[in-house]
Amino acid sequence: MDIRTIKEYLGQDWTAVQELISSELHSDIDLLNSTNASILSHSGKQLRPLLVLLFARASSGGCATQASIRYAAAAELLHNATLLHDDVADSSDKRRGVPTIRSLMGPSVSVLVGDYWLVKAMELILGADGSDTTVMRIFSKTLSDLAEGEMLQLQKAQSGDTDEEDYLKIIYNKTASLFEAACFSAAESVDAPAEIKAAAREYAVALGLAFQIQDDILDYSGTEAVGKPLGADILEQKITLPLLGALADVPADKAAQVRGKVKDIAGHPEYRDEIVAFVRENGGLEYAGARLNEYVAKAVAALEVLPASVDRDCLAELAYYTAKRIK
Ligand code: IPE
Ligand code: IPE
Ligand code: MG
Ligand code: MG
Repeated sequence: MDIRTIKEYLGQDWTAVQELISSELHSDIDLLNSTNASILSHSGKQLRPLLVLLFARASSGGCATQASIRYAAAAELLHNATLLHDDVADSSDKRRGVPTIRSLMGPSVSVLVGDYWLVKAMELILGADGSDTTVMRIFSKTLSDLAEGEMLQLQKAQSGDTDEEDYLKIIYNKTASLFEAACFSAAESVDAPAEIKAAAREYAVALGLAFQIQDDILDYSGTEAVGKPLGADILEQKITLPLLGALADVPADKAAQVRGKVKDIAGHPEYRDEIVAFVRENGGLEYAGARLNEYVAKAVAALEVLPASVDRDCLAELAYYTAKRIK
């Protein structure tokens, strides 16, 4: 099943999430409403709410609750809020194949609308039936993880010494942490037993890491389908897994020379093509692809404690999709 078919399969549960997102965002301020509508009309893959619904259903014999719907909507609002902020942090002009809110309306609008979506996500979590502080706490942790991940990424862009351990910490913080919150909140929403909650985290973290590794591979090897500028990471001095794989494959002096070029890239944008070629020629994409497949296998294995169901199959499908996706 592809993502569109999974959404159709989820039927009323999926429609309820979409409706909740629209109604939650409603404001009396026209500028805010029109900006929200513009973002919603280019909605992206909506992977995080899909994960919440599927994990809740797979853990409960197919019965998502009102809380599952609210957490699904909250995860998507929170994700979009982080993108609105990320596009300011990265000065990005394009996302989902269209100009960013930052480039259309300026950084202030992008930051303020991001704040609004973030708070609406929190309100959805706080208003969930039977919600206690557990879910709020995991989403709060995700937000501090995100900020720490982005700060570590900036710190490492300056020092130029990113190693694989730093890289994994950055991508856990900026991407996998939200996947983890999404699946864990799903298990909470149906009051799943402890072993299922543990599986939710294990599946989601492995999937989130795989998802970000593929994002970083696509930055080197993607096509226009990605919908955002390619080769952007290296221009932002982000040393990601494809480059780390290539650096590990060459003598130390060559590796130091390439790291030096990454550090100096602001004054030498022509280094970008050279570094992209270096990654391709030294097996960087294959290296990252192999690590990606390990995480996909780990994610699928974590699903074994769930009873067999279509929902569980869809969760496995999403893991395989992560490795194949082109956008
Ligand atoms: C983009 O996430 C940011 C990353 C974590 C790589 P997605 O690729 O899920 O973004 P959309 O919502 O589908 O555009
Ligand atoms: C991921 O970081 C975005 C967040 C998790 C906030 P990137 O900066 O790598 O994501 P893209 O490439 O802009 O989507
Ligand atoms: Mg970015
Ligand atoms: Mg990226």
